[in-house]
Amino acid sequence: MPADRTNRATALLIELPEDTRPMHERLTSAIRTAIARGRLTPGHLLPSSRTLAAELGCSRWVVNEAYVQLAAEGHLETRQGSGTRIAAYTTARTEPSRAEFADPEPPTSHVDLRPGAPDVNGFPAAAWLRSLHHVLTDPAWSPPVFPPPAGAPRLRQTVAAYLRRARGILVDSDDVIITCGTSHGIAAVARTLTPVALGVAVEDPGWARLREVAAAAGLRIEPVTVDAKGIDVAAVRRADVAAAICAPAHQFPTGALLSPERRRALLTWATEASAIIVEDDYDAEFRYDGRPVGALAGLSRDHVVYLGSASKTLHPGLRLGWLVPPPARRRALLAAVEAAGAGPSILDQLTFAHFMETGAYDRHLRQTRKTYRLRRNALVTALQRHNVTRRLGAPQGIAAGLHLTLPLPPKSDEHAVVARLADLGVTAIPLSRYTIRPQPPALVLGYGRLAPPRAEWVAMQIAKALHAHSPSSSDLSWHGST
Ligand SMILES: Cc1ncc(COP(=O)(O)O)c(C=O)c1O
Repeated sequence: MPADRTNRATALLIELPEDTRPMHERLTSAIRTAIARGRLTPGHLLPSSRTLAAELGCSRWVVNEAYVQLAAEGHLETRQGSGTRIAAYTTARTEPSRAEFADPEPPTSHVDLRPGAPDVNGFPAAAWLRSLHHVLTDPAWSPPVFPPPAGAPRLRQTVAAYLRRARGILVDSDDVIITCGTSHGIAAVARTLTPVALGVAVEDPGWARLREVAAAAGLRIEPVTVDAKGIDVAAVRRADVAAAICAPAHQFPTGALLSPERRRALLTWATEASAIIVEDDYDAEFRYDGRPVGALAGLSRDHVVYLGSASKTLHPGLRLGWLVPPPARRRALLAAVEAAGAGPSILDQLTFAHFMETGAYDRHLRQTRKTYRLRRNALVTALQRHNVTRRLGAPQGIAAGLHLTLPLPPKSDEHAVVARLADLGVTAIPLSRYTIRPQPPALVLGYGRLAPPRAEWVAMQIAKALHAHSPSSSDLSWHGST
């Protein structure tokens, strides 16, 4: 028998299942069941964690964990100042059934699966404002009137500590240069290479912005293939370039993790060719499966320019990033960062330093990692359920990040599939958007902003769009459950 406890403040009946799971899991499950049975309906205001914890006789931590988990699953919405409510798109139901999977409710607006966009609704506004307030009121934090070109010393110190601890890079604060993000860092690197118009190897497919920035600085762009082990180092060698830009932790958009052998081979190439590796430490914070992987710059800093950014972890609009140059190139790179124009706001730099020092950044990363993992799981499961992956093969690059790639049948027309999806209310991006040379067709699907209850509907539209464009597969059951 479940233990019933009625919350007096809101008359909310919590039916805690009596099993051996920890209290926060039982509470999560109780609220989930109440939503599923229609006892809690969209818009319903839940009690504050303090109130509910007091009434249930547990700690606030227990209630907060349950709320965070349910928000990550898309069942709850938390708004600054207006409390925690049952989310508008949560549908009450009795039992999840096959019929329900086959016909989930359509959303009221277009579902945007463009990759690269973090869920900015999850920006930790309250903690960020507390840090900003601290910076503005505590004399010990008062911003320098003329900020040093390498960035606020306090932030460089904090970032160095973070890189040592979380990314395995041996750095001091003097080694860190604060930038306006990865693209700013690439522009600075390109500036140090261009007087003699040298070549740079870029991953193909890869993020177009990086090669555009390098090309705009006058560098010759050499596309290099990426496979399941990351960038093809033998091809980098053949390309006769002064630098190679790559994302070892999570290649964009394939999601490949650079293998240990290739890491060593790349460093050997850079040493022998006196070249540099530009490490875009993209999505390193969001690894869900397997052990966390250290940065390439953690193996050797001599030929690696390391680039990090808060664009995915906090907000792309902050324009906050950091660069760690090889010691021999520090002076040149600092001059190039300065020459590229103004750096990020000193107030944001100090706020971020305080935010990191108080542990708020680590907490935020733990929380968002959990949210994105659930979103990834929901989309992958829904694609399986609607037979998409059985027909096309497993989605690629799912171990980390905020997107996956879905291979399409060999001769299919990516653009036609994308157009059909757009008609069905889903924005997806064709792989060719990121390629320089022709490659097998695929879709790139960002799930960073896809609430799990919506994944089912999205998978169904993808199955429909694929069916419409693969007449030869009319014998396949795209819509049935596996
Ligand atoms: C592959 C890749 N690296 C890095 C970034 C971050 O760039 P920035 O720090 O300039 O916002 C992005 C942003 O979309 C990206 O797609």
